[in-house]
Amino acid sequence: MSPQVHHVTHPLIQHKLTLMRQKDRSTNSFRRLLNEISMLMAYEVTRDMPTSMIEIETPLETMQAPVIDGKKTVFVSIMRAGAGFLDGMLNVVPGARIGHIGLYRDPKTLVAVEYYFKMPADMHERDAIVLDPMLATGNSAVAAVDRLKETRPKSIRFVCLLAAPEGLANFHANHPDVPVYVAAIDRQLNEHGYIVPGLGDAGDRIFGTK
Ligand code: URA
Repeated sequence: MSPQVHHVTHPLIQHKLTLMRQKDRSTNSFRRLLNEISMLMAYEVTRDMPTSMIEIETPLETMQAPVIDGKKTVFVSIMRAGAGFLDGMLNVVPGARIGHIGLYRDPKTLVAVEYYFKMPADMHERDAIVLDPMLATGNSAVAAVDRLKETRPKSIRFVCLLAAPEGLANFHANHPDVPVYVAAIDRQLNEHGYIVPGLGDAGDRIFGTK
């Protein structure tokens, strides 16, 4: 596996993901589990976030203590399923800024088409963490990161729940500099571009639209 792939195998994440895959799981439960997993993945993806020292007063004395500057982080949600990852990430880094990229997959060609793009100002000072639960063909992820790179963020990481091997290969061929954090790498894509065994359409399951 490429050193740029961080397979997050923590048992809590794996357990919750198994529950999410079950076809009879309710929308409410699916969303809650995704929220919990995103908090745990946030812990992993922010592991080497830079800290700076500030002076504080404890009840006993003055000390120098580390803090992170959450405002320097931008969570970039790929609409619409990326929204399912946002709440959990924001629970852990509440000061983060949020960007959105709207892409849809052309059902015939599976190519990503952009319909929305909005980032905070001063991206060159920020670390971007791109969120999309499913890295399937990789076309949306590649297009999103292509576009994001035009804003010149300090760094980019990509977080997903499930990936197909084909999607990971496509993503790395186009963005070898961007690390991917993933909870599970499934067997393959089917003829409709779905990850199998997978968990179905993440957007529909998060929003209860099917
Ligand atoms: N998007 C999804 O929501 N599910 C897949 O399996 C592939 C892409």
